[in-house]
Amino acid sequence: MSEAKVQTGPLVDPYGSTRDDCAVIALKQVTREYAGHGSVVRALGDATFSIVAGEWVAITGPSGSGKSTLVNLIGCLDRPTSGELKIDNVDVASMSATELDRFRADKIGFIFQQFHLIPYLSALENVMLAQYFHSMTDEAEARAALERVGLDKRVSHLPSELSGGEQQRVCIARALINNPPVLLADEPTGNLDAANQTIVAELLQDLHRNGHTIVMVTHDPEMAGLAQRRIALSHGKVFCHPVGGPMVTLRR
Ligand SMILES: Nc1ncnc2c1ncn2[C@@H]1O[C@H](COP(=O)(O)OP(=O)(O)O)[C@@H](O)[C@H]1O
Ligand SMILES: [Mg+2]
Repeated sequence: MSEAKVQTGPLVDPYGSTRDDCAVIALKQVTREYAGHGSVVRALGDATFSIVAGEWVAITGPSGSGKSTLVNLIGCLDRPTSGELKIDNVDVASMSATELDRFRADKIGFIFQQFHLIPYLSALENVMLAQYFHSMTDEAEARAALERVGLDKRVSHLPSELSGGEQQRVCIARALINNPPVLLADEPTGNLDAANQTIVAELLQDLHRNGHTIVMVTHDPEMAGLAQRRIALSHGKVFCHPVGGPMVTLRR
């Protein structure tokens, strides 16, 4: 299968600025530099692109290319050195740290490679903890979220009593529970065997079909192939692959 053409030249979104109107994530000339050790590292340079509601985008690139830097910015864990970053039409640059914490809880559902579940809380309690930090707990809703990811028979299990795939499904339930406009997944299948990768991939496909916006960092070409579009990073520069780029069939 031939590779889709990588956009070169000016680093602009191939869809142009008209997409900004309905963009749930919009970056304009976003740069993130790290100062220290007597030098400045430009981890992300002049990134300009947007992601519209309902899109599934894969962020790819070799180690050190700026993926974590970009994810930290989109996840409101960090702010750009310069440029404009809007999440759900709100510019995050001007927010205080406290406002950013609140904003993050509202807007972003995180799915991590390392799961980051609280080991002494059950699956249900882990999901309810996310509700607690957002607003108030609602056990019935938390149970429904676990049922949605096929874990209705595992609500009382501790993380150590769950398989890797089941733990990742708890994370997905936790990410969904406050109904955020963006699901941000960092190597969601990085720690899973092939069978569990398939289960999680199918779950993400299901969420995408149901209108969720998914931004996913992955090294795995099969996972990247499931997304509608790829944003490839190389030495902190962004290259957007158009829709209809290389699609890879999921291994069965
Ligand atoms: N806190 C930091 N301080 C200094 N340099 C950093 C920091 N975080 C990342 N970098 C540098 O920025 C570049 C991009 O890093 P990163 O975003 O972690 O890449 P990736 O996730 O693609 O591996 C690397 O050269 C890395 O060494
Ligand atoms: Mg990284």
